[in-house]
Amino acid sequence: IVRRLAAPDIAARKGGEPIVCLTAYTAPVAAVLDEACDLLLVGDSLGMVVHGLPNTVGVTLEMMILHGQAVMRSTRRAMVVVDMPFGSYEGEPETAYANAARIMKETGAQAVKVESGPTVPATIDYLVKRGIPVMGHVGLRPQAILVDGGFKAKGRTDVERERVLAEARATAEAGAFSVVVEGVAEDLAREVTAAIAVPTIGIGASAGCDGQILVTDDMLGLFDWTPKFVRRYADLKGEIAEAARRYAADVKARTFPGEAETYFAKKQG
Ligand code: KIV
Ligand code: NA
Repeated sequence: IVRRLAAPDIAARKGGEPIVCLTAYTAPVAAVLDEACDLLLVGDSLGMVVHGLPNTVGVTLEMMILHGQAVMRSTRRAMVVVDMPFGSYEGEPETAYANAARIMKETGAQAVKVESGPTVPATIDYLVKRGIPVMGHVGLRPQAILVDGGFKAKGRTDVERERVLAEARATAEAGAFSVVVEGVAEDLAREVTAAIAVPTIGIGASAGCDGQILVTDDMLGLFDWTPKFVRRYADLKGEIAEAARRYAADVKARTFPGEAETYFAKKQG
């Protein structure tokens, strides 16, 4: 029996071997990623990547739970973290707890993730004290796109640097087991990593973090939008398009299905 990694295992890897993380949204892909990854994030990026939404603001708790269940069913080794969607945790800690508890109970995941904001450290503290491991997320906050004005790198001015650093400190001190650092320059990523006692997981945040995460569909070349920080490890979009072209050609030429793909009546008598 394989024991699944959990929050304390990830927390213990501060400053050690880099922590390997990817997003996962569906059972078959999660099953393939399980072996190579320490942590699989059911990110609310699924709104854009899987459901075609313009940003993550429209993602619902029900969507997160459905995808969380699919990922949990097909994995057994990686820690699974489910994003809390926009509107499910920024208000009263009691409401955040009820929503986080639903995610934990209905998916069986090992933790939830929340993006930082002024009300969030108190909520992290509230959840962790009640048994729910929480991952933080500072720097570029996709759920704040409507106030921040777009997907832009953070921490390029002194005021912003101080804010990102303060948010990371508050997140870690509130009890988060790890903090995603998104879209910040290398020197700030290193400063944040040195300033907090739990691992930083970078995305567009240099090699100076304790681990890395990418949106799986980006690194597989499945999703069109590829920022500077993405490295493409495959061209699945090209492969799928080519497969569809070949299939279409075979159907039109009546070379598919062939004999091997055809049922025939049993010979009788
Ligand atoms: O939703 C997501 O995929 C994320 C990661 C990019 C960190 O939050
Ligand atoms: Na997210």
